[in-house]
Amino acid sequence: MIDLHCHLLPGVDDGAKDLEESLAMARLAVNDGIRAIVATPHVRNGLYHHTREELEERFIRLKEYLQVQGLPLTLYLGADIHLSPGLIQHLERQELPSINNRRYLLLELPSFALPSALQEILFKLRAKGFIPVVTHPERNGAIQKNPEQAVELSRFGALFQVTAMSLTGEFGGKVRDCAAALLEKGLVQVLATDAHSPRNRPPFLAAGVRAAEKLIGKEAALRLVTDHPERILAGAPWPDQEFQKKPESSRLKKLPFFARLLR
Ligand SMILES: [Fe+2]
Repeated sequence: MIDLHCHLLPGVDDGAKDLEESLAMARLAVNDGIRAIVATPHVRNGLYHHTREELEERFIRLKEYLQVQGLPLTLYLGADIHLSPGLIQHLERQELPSINNRRYLLLELPSFALPSALQEILFKLRAKGFIPVVTHPERNGAIQKNPEQAVELSRFGALFQVTAMSLTGEFGGKVRDCAAALLEKGLVQVLATDAHSPRNRPPFLAAGVRAAEKLIGKEAALRLVTDHPERILAGAPWPDQEFQKKPESSRLKKLPFFARLLR
């Protein structure tokens, strides 16, 4: 399995505190069946403002440290990029790490509402060649109230990553039900740990896959942690038909002009 979203990089956010904690997380991940992790520190959420160069430096140190320990684990760098002003310009100037330096990026939304400009931002990202993978939509208040909102975002080119612990109920029933609804609607492309520590939020993926299997079947559940993250790591194009169901013509008319261009 590949974990596309993990706060493994030490000392840069509320994830691993130091190299020892990163090592403990990496060991847990390997024991759980994870063979590759994308280290995705928070960036630009008003708290964490490390430059890309700083993150890359720390990433190299982490990689070397884990290599010495001999863990069968491949590491990649990405970032958990918060929706913030200037996002597209920062990406274009290569100031923020995309996933494995390719076209996909993790995009974290605010916890409660969906900003009114979101659809346009998603559209612009896709138009510029970036593919946003929206992290844990099941934890967003507006999507919990109405999962159809995620359908709208997918029409504007968003992919979705659900968190394994959401599906196994550790964030409560509301979050679990929303995660399950999104999976059953075929809106979810990736399951990841969003792990922050070896104790409270460990990098466990296998239990989440088992929960997903019950909802969408074994093959589809496995794709969320194998084929799909592989494609994202490689920066391969996303076949639109896999995640964008054609809206009924009446709804299509309601979409702004720029969104219809996307289809
Ligand atoms: Fe995260």
